[in-house]
This record gives sequence, C-alpha cells and structure tokens, in this order.
Amino acid sequence: MLLIEAEQICRFFIAGKSSIPALSPISLKVYSGEFLVVTGPSGAGKSTLLNLLSCLDRPSSGEVRFQGQSFSNMTEQKIALLRNSSFGFIFQTPHLLMDKTVLENVALPFHYGLPVSRAVVQERCRVLLEYVGLAEMESRYPNTLSGGEMQRVVFARALCREPDVIFADEPTGSLDTENSRKILTLLKDQTTQARAVIMVTHDQEPVDFATRILQLDKITTDTSLV
Ligand SMILES: Nc1ncnc2c1ncn2[C@@H]1O[C@H](COP(=O)(O)OP(=O)(O)OP(=O)(O)O)[C@@H](O)[C@H]1O
Ligand SMILES: [Mg+2]
Repeated sequence: MLLIEAEQICRFFIAGKSSIPALSPISLKVYSGEFLVVTGPSGAGKSTLLNLLSCLDRPSSGEVRFQGQSFSNMTEQKIALLRNSSFGFIFQTPHLLMDKTVLENVALPFHYGLPVSRAVVQERCRVLLEYVGLAEMESRYPNTLSGGEMQRVVFARALCREPDVIFADEPTGSLDTENSRKILTLLKDQTTQARAVIMVTHDQEPVDFATRILQLDKITTDTSLV
C-alpha cells in the first residue's frame, strides 16, 4: 500500500541575500512494509528530507501526500493528529520527560488525539515495554537509564499509537553495536507488520536491514538571490 508520495520536493533556506539549498528536487514513493534507509554525507539533506516527509517542515516547492492526501490541503489540526497517531518519531538523542516515569513517558502520545481509557493505555504501554525488553523498568525515571535503554523507551513511545510510518533520524547514532542492533532489529520487525520505516543513517550496518537505499549527495552550490 502506498503511504507517502513526494513529488519534486525541494527545500532551500533564505539567509540574507543568499538562498541555501538544503535538498535538491526529489520524487519518492514509500510503501507499507518498506525499510527505506537514507544515507549520504553530512549536509546532503537527509534530515531535511525526513522532516518534509513527516510534515515537520514544508517544502519550498513540490508536494508530499500521505495516503493520497496532500499535506498542503490539510488543516494544522489534521496534521497534528497525523503526527500523533499515524507517525512515530525516533531521533538521535532520546527526548524523554525527566519528571515522568518510563511508563508515563511511553504513554505521552495518549495525552493528545482520540481519547483512550486509562486501563487500555497502561496495558498497551506495558506490552510495548515488554517488547523492547524494559518491562522491569516501567517505574524508573529516565535519568537512571542508559542511552540504549532511553532509546528503547522512545521506540516504545513511537509505537504506542500504532503508526503507519516510523521516521528515524540516526536513531543508533549514539549507541554501541549491541544496542544499535537491538533498535535495528525492532525497526525491521515493524516492517513485517505492514508499517514503513524511513531511517536516516551514517552507518553501514543499517544498510543491511534496508529493503531500499536512497543515497543523497552533498549540494555544493549556494544560489544568490540577486
Ligand atoms: N534552518 C536552516 N537554515 C539554513 N540552512 C539549513 C537549515 N537547516 C538545514 N540547513 C542546511 O541544509 C543542508 C542540509 O541539512 P541537513 O540537516 O538536512 O543535512 P544532513 O544530511 O541531515 O546532515 P547530517 O548528516 O550532518 O545530519 C545543510 O547544508 C544545512 O546547513
Ligand atoms: Mg541530519
């Protein structure tokens, strides 16, 4: 099933009289069950692309559609709902709320969007913590966890609304080989459940998990506006 379709999207940033190109025009289709790995040198536009595909950012031209509907035709409310319930996010540094327990952090996406009963939320979060191997840590606070454990909490949180697409920007960037492999295996496992994973990485290892690899090249030219 076609989930995301990007048509000739590009992104540039205006700085004074210069236009800084961040992403050259690109078209792309992402289907459920795919593990798309985006690679390329620093500054090639990998994060920019991920942000455009997940509607965290808007393209300078071109359009992105999710399940056939263009982001540009959606209200902010609809986009917020999409990000909350259809998309899951994992970034390089795990962002957790330090004054909330592990279980409460996983449950955060349930504070927004369609209401779900407390019992269902707890049950779902516990199943996910079990899945990521952290069942015994639900009452701990993030500052007592290792980086790899924190990243698995983020992963559980990204899954709790049962997203169609998981966006991961260098999720293993700060992890050792063992923890990195755990995350990659969990991500790969998601694609067997008809989800799509779009992952940005510098490393070689994730490439072995990919069903498709997109290599972006560095953009060298700055375009003057005058
Ligand atoms: N808000 C911004 N304003 C100006 N330039 C930006 C902005 N965001 C990104 N850029 C530029 O766009 C280019 C692409 O950035 P991007 O973050 O997508 O690269 P990347 O491939 O993810 O790099 P890395 O591997 O280092 O994370 C870079 O040259 C960057 O400096
Ligand atoms: Mg980046």
